[in-house]
Amino acid sequence: MSDNKATLNVPGRDPIDLDIYSGTLGPDVVDVSALTSQGLFTYDPGFVSTGSCESKITFIDGNKGQLLHRGYPIDQLAEHSNYLETCYLLLYGELPTRDQYNEFSGIITRHTMVHEQIRTFFQGFRRDAHPMAIMCGVVGALSAFYHDSLDISDEEHRKIAAFRLIAKMPTLAAMSYKFSIGQPFVYPDNSRDYAENFLHMMFGNPCEESKIDPALSKAMDRIFLLHADHEQNASTSAVRLTGSSGANPFACIAAGIAALWGPAHGGANEAVLEMLEEIGDESNIDTFIDRAKDKDDPFRLMGFGHRVYKNFDPRAKVMRESCDEVLEVLGMEDDPLFRIARRLEKIALEDEYFIEKKLYPNVDFYSGIILKALGIPVNMFTVIFATGRTVGWIAHWHEMISGEYRIGRPRQLYTGSVQRDYKDFSKRK
Ligand code: SDX
Repeated sequence: MSDNKATLNVPGRDPIDLDIYSGTLGPDVVDVSALTSQGLFTYDPGFVSTGSCESKITFIDGNKGQLLHRGYPIDQLAEHSNYLETCYLLLYGELPTRDQYNEFSGIITRHTMVHEQIRTFFQGFRRDAHPMAIMCGVVGALSAFYHDSLDISDEEHRKIAAFRLIAKMPTLAAMSYKFSIGQPFVYPDNSRDYAENFLHMMFGNPCEESKIDPALSKAMDRIFLLHADHEQNASTSAVRLTGSSGANPFACIAAGIAALWGPAHGGANEAVLEMLEEIGDESNIDTFIDRAKDKDDPFRLMGFGHRVYKNFDPRAKVMRESCDEVLEVLGMEDDPLFRIARRLEKIALEDEYFIEKKLYPNVDFYSGIILKALGIPVNMFTVIFATGRTVGWIAHWHEMISGEYRIGRPRQLYTGSVQRDYKDFSKRK
């Protein structure tokens, strides 16, 4: 209950008092759960104005271009932290002490291997299967291998499942790549840190020692960090809704991977690269800008726009800086796609349509250029996004399961047929 109330006046009904709650940051919320008992539903397709839960993990202010993980701004974490420390922060709510960090990163490191039987699981896929299709299947199948960590009411089971998922996603991601190019899987190397180990499993081979440029593994780590969590986005909401039925954590993360795959969500990074390659030359940019503005053309400028950010996406700013650094290290400053991206961003940000609709580059606009420069194939981009976001999905799943929760069951505005009786064929037109 709250002392702060809103009153809803519906013609022909008594006024309905609704509780208003205030968080530590962000808009107040109106609790509408009492409406059902009054024979009313709310209606909010796409959940533009709907808060689905209470959470302490991440806060976004779309107008300020602010993203906080447990209160820490993303640009500070990107500059001073690393992915595994950010994982600890998202899971436990505080930055770790040196000992806590060493223990946590040691546990993750020792869970990077997958059950040997999973290697044969890959054989069931075609070599040209999209890696996201493989990841949906293989991550869901982890529940068939880890029966000892499926009792979601057991805190220890929840913890081990979280460690296993964070640790094994890079291994499975690299395996989905190696499988697609017919190369042998590369086992994790526990002497390497998280991002370096991923690049080792992606580009190493049994015939020679793989040397990873520290600047590139730092860029890879930052990409994982920038994708770690983003409050109640579509895939995180899919994980929460799946988890609300009591489904095991591996099935919940598989649901998140499936939801992320769409081009309007995590699939946008792959779509950005395809768009930049389709533009091909700076002289074609205006044509694509015109198409993006044309209501009759389904084309949208991929990597632009966001449900929440109506100012810049703070992750895109950090990603663009990383882009500059990586391309300089690789001697690719004059990368034609990066040149097109920079020019496209400049033109779009000066265009009345994009200004009026508050469309800015989002996290996906520059990430693909870095990933391509790191040698990662375009069809692996969303797999990288899913790998980085796994900790956010798990943190939200754990926050829900370890507290009070009910199965999610949205209602609807029904506009179909009223009741009617069955007719035999003879009576049908
Ligand atoms: C992610 O939610 C998250 O937090 C997601 C994410 C995360 O970390 O989890 O941040 C990751 O998904 C980033 C977004 C990646 N997607 C893209 O880059 C795809 C391109 N962007 C759009 O599809 C779109 O901007 C969305 C999906 C991102 C947001 O869609 P909304 O909030 O439903 O906005 P909308 O579609 O209602 O657009 C509002 C208006 C529309 O015009 P009108 O109907 O008002 O005339 O803006 C237009 C749209 O046509 N518009 C665009 C556009 N995005 C929106 N026009 C051209 N190009 C675009 N990219």
